[in-house]
Amino acid sequence: MTAPTASPMNILGIETSCDETAAAVVTGGREILSDLVLSQLDEHRPYGGVVPEIAARSHLDHIDGLVARALDEAGLGFAELDGVAATAGPGLIGGVFVGVMTGKAIAAARGLPFLAVNHLEGHALTARLTHDLDFPYLLLLVSGGHCQLVAVEGVGRYRKLGGTLDDAIGESFDKTAKMLGLGYPGGPAVERAARDGDPARFDLPRPLRGRDNLDFSFSGLKTAVRHQAEAAGALGAGPDSQVARDMAASFQAAVADVLADRCTRALDRFQEQTGRRGPLVVAGGVAANGYLRARLDEVAATSGAALIAPPPRLCTDNAAMIAWAGVERLRAGLTDPLDFAPRPRWPLEELRAAGGED
Ligand code: KG4
Ligand code: ZN
Repeated sequence: MTAPTASPMNILGIETSCDETAAAVVTGGREILSDLVLSQLDEHRPYGGVVPEIAARSHLDHIDGLVARALDEAGLGFAELDGVAATAGPGLIGGVFVGVMTGKAIAAARGLPFLAVNHLEGHALTARLTHDLDFPYLLLLVSGGHCQLVAVEGVGRYRKLGGTLDDAIGESFDKTAKMLGLGYPGGPAVERAARDGDPARFDLPRPLRGRDNLDFSFSGLKTAVRHQAEAAGALGAGPDSQVARDMAASFQAAVADVLADRCTRALDRFQEQTGRRGPLVVAGGVAANGYLRARLDEVAATSGAALIAPPPRLCTDNAAMIAWAGVERLRAGLTDPLDFAPRPRWPLEELRAAGGED
């Protein structure tokens, strides 16, 4: 981690909306002074998915110690902070409460501004932490619970161009992994298995490809995976089975084709609306997938746009992105009151923007 400088702003970020307890300190000068993520994978693995009560309890057990370590690694005390940002939704509400209460308590005790950060805005703005990037840009947000194409016009200013009609991409990776017995968490397991698989072995659908809108649908693909996996003996076959690897590769190739089609179309639409050819920014946990990143790189190159993809560890859930969104919001004067209520559901378009209305 970089040493602290005389930066005008040090923001503590807290993330507890799913199964990662995370704390980080980021400066207004785009430095990540500390970035700690404590995964609860082992606690949820026996259940094959995230159990909300276990997640909330685990966040509660670990958040105070993690915040102390994040400050320690950053070489800062509470007195040197300029604000506290915590994920206030969307997410599993028990966990969100833990992070928000922790953030508010620190802010209240130290008289610091509190920033209630929308988790999706954290993902959406990460590329401005890692790259020198101006608004507007086209964002492909692909995570466990979300799949959308968004025109990012400013802090708090998001215009949704299209989204999934059913499952999120991360969810379809997770379900595919479960069906094939590849283990948990599903996304990285599918990517690993697919490396040794034949993407042409199974003929899977590419839902909505070629349609004149910017929406996604993955439930038909999931059903096709189940039927064909069953017929081929790949259900629960595990990572050592060639047929499971081939199905993983075929599934991933279908997802890549869909993303390529939708993003090509979105770049055109974005240009019509803004006069700008991209850039295309990819964010969220699924953006950690190397195969999909390579494919999006090709799409961008063919379309004459730049692709901006944060490093994988800043694509999956982390607190540096929350701290950075806090930096951006504090700069824009968008602080929040200490009675701000956490929101389990909180679409990007409902955010408060600089100079805008509530
Ligand atoms: O952004 P994230 O960490 O949490 C949410 O906000 O949802 O995204 C988690 C999702 C999970 O569905 C996980 O399987 C998926 O991102 N994911 C991946 C990869 N790494 C994480 N999907 C595909 N390939 C990966 N390498
Ligand atoms: Zn996320």
